[in-house]
Amino acid sequence: MDRKIAENIYYIGMNDRTTHRFERLWSIRRGVSYNSYVVADEKTAVIDTVEASCAEAFCKNIEAATAGRPVDYLIVNHMEPDHSGSIATLRRRYPEMKIVGNAKTLQMITGYYGIEEGLMEVAEGDTLSLGKDSLTFYMAPMVHWPETMVTYSNNTKTLFAGDAFGCFGALDGGITDEHLLFEDYYDEMVRYYACIVGKYGAPVQKALQKLAPLEIKTIAPTHGPVWKRSIDKVVKVYDELSRYAAQRGVVVAYGSMYGNTASLCEEVACSLREQGVEKIKVYDLSSADISEVLRDIFLYRGLVIASPTYNNELFPPVRELLDSIAERTVKGRLFGFIGSYTWASAALKRCNEMAEKHKWEVLPCAIEQKQSRLSVSDHSIENFAKQFAEAL
Ligand SMILES: Cc1cc2nc3c(=O)[nH]c(=O)nc-3n(C[C@H](O)[C@H](O)[C@H](O)COP(=O)(O)O)c2cc1C
Ligand SMILES: [Fe+2]
Ligand SMILES: [Fe+2]
Repeated sequence: MDRKIAENIYYIGMNDRTTHRFERLWSIRRGVSYNSYVVADEKTAVIDTVEASCAEAFCKNIEAATAGRPVDYLIVNHMEPDHSGSIATLRRRYPEMKIVGNAKTLQMITGYYGIEEGLMEVAEGDTLSLGKDSLTFYMAPMVHWPETMVTYSNNTKTLFAGDAFGCFGALDGGITDEHLLFEDYYDEMVRYYACIVGKYGAPVQKALQKLAPLEIKTIAPTHGPVWKRSIDKVVKVYDELSRYAAQRGVVVAYGSMYGNTASLCEEVACSLREQGVEKIKVYDLSSADISEVLRDIFLYRGLVIASPTYNNELFPPVRELLDSIAERTVKGRLFGFIGSYTWASAALKRCNEMAEKHKWEVLPCAIEQKQSRLSVSDHSIENFAKQFAEAL
C-alpha cells in the first residue's frame, strides 16, 4: 500500500477492528484507526503514536517508513492513551529520540509513563526544523484535552490535527480520500464528533479561527481518512457541529417498560410526518445505540423526549440521555416532552426541571399519558405535532 501522503510524509497508523467500545463506552462496529505519521526528512519525526495494543506492528511501520533510520523526534499532539499508548515502547527503541510537547503535555508524559529525560518543550508558534521541512506548533486546548496542540508542516502544508477532523471507522483499503470517500465516513464523523468532541464546541470554534489563515493542502487527523480532496467538506462539518447548527428534522427518543409510552410515540412520529416533517428518527432508549442517538441530536433541531415515571423519577435511560445532552451543552434545539405515569406523575416534571436548568427551548404543549392511550385524546397528539412542526 502506498503510505506516502505528502512529500517525505508517510502514514504509519493502525486499524483497530477488535475493540468493541472506544473509551470502553462508544460502539465502533466499523472499527477505528489510530493515525500516526513519519516526516522522513534530514531528521525524522514521528507525529503521535497509537494505542498500546498496536505498538509492535506500529514499530514495524516506522522502520519501513524510515528505512531503518532512527527516530529523532516524537511530536506529541495529544496525550489521550489512544495516541500516547506507544510512547514508552518508542522511547525504549529509540533512546536518543527527543519527545516534543508543550508544558502540559510533558507533565502528562512524566505522569503516565515515568519519562523525565529527553523531553523538549515547545510553545505557541515555535518551529522545529527537520531539514527541508519544518514543523510549527499551535495550541488547541480542549480539542480534546487541555494539552492538545496541532502541528503544521510548512513545506507540505500538512496539518497534523489530532482528534480534530477525525472520525470513527477503520480505513477500508486506503489512507487518503483519493481512495476513500468522504461520504462513506460522514455518519461516522458526526457520531465521533457527537460522542467524543461534542462538549467542546467553543474550543473547536477557537481552533478553527486560529487555523483559518493557514494554507492547508492535507489534513492528517488521528482517526479516520487523511483529507486532501474533501478539506472544505470536513472543515464545514466540524464548523457546523461545533456551532450546534441543525437541520430540520426530529429525533423521537423514548423509554418504555410495557409499551404504552412507545405506542404513543409511534403515533406522534406519524403525526409529525403528516405535518410535513421529513426527517424523523425514532429510538427506544433501552435498545438504541446511544452514540447514534447523540449523532442524530447533533444533526436535527427537534427532539421529542418521552419517559415513563419510574420510582418517582425519569426512566433511567431517558435520564441518562438528558444528562448526555446537558453535558454537551447542546444549543438551539426544540424539545417536546411526553410523560407517562400510573399513580403519581413525575417524569414530565423532571423533564421540565432539566429544561429550565439548562435553558432549553421547550414546546409549551406537552403530552401526559395516565396508564394508557385511553387517557390521551387524538386531538392532543395532532396538536402537539402541529405546533412542534411549526416551531421547528
Ligand atoms: C418499576 C416501576 C416503577 C414505577 N414507578 C412509578 C411511579 O413512581 N409513579 C407512577 O405514577 N408510576 C410508576 N410506574 C408506572 C409507570 O410509570 C407506567 O406503567 C408507565 O408510565 C406506563 O408506560 P410504559 O407502558 O411505556 O412503561 C412504575 C412502573 C414500574 C414498572
Ligand atoms: Fe482524544
Ligand atoms: Fe483520539
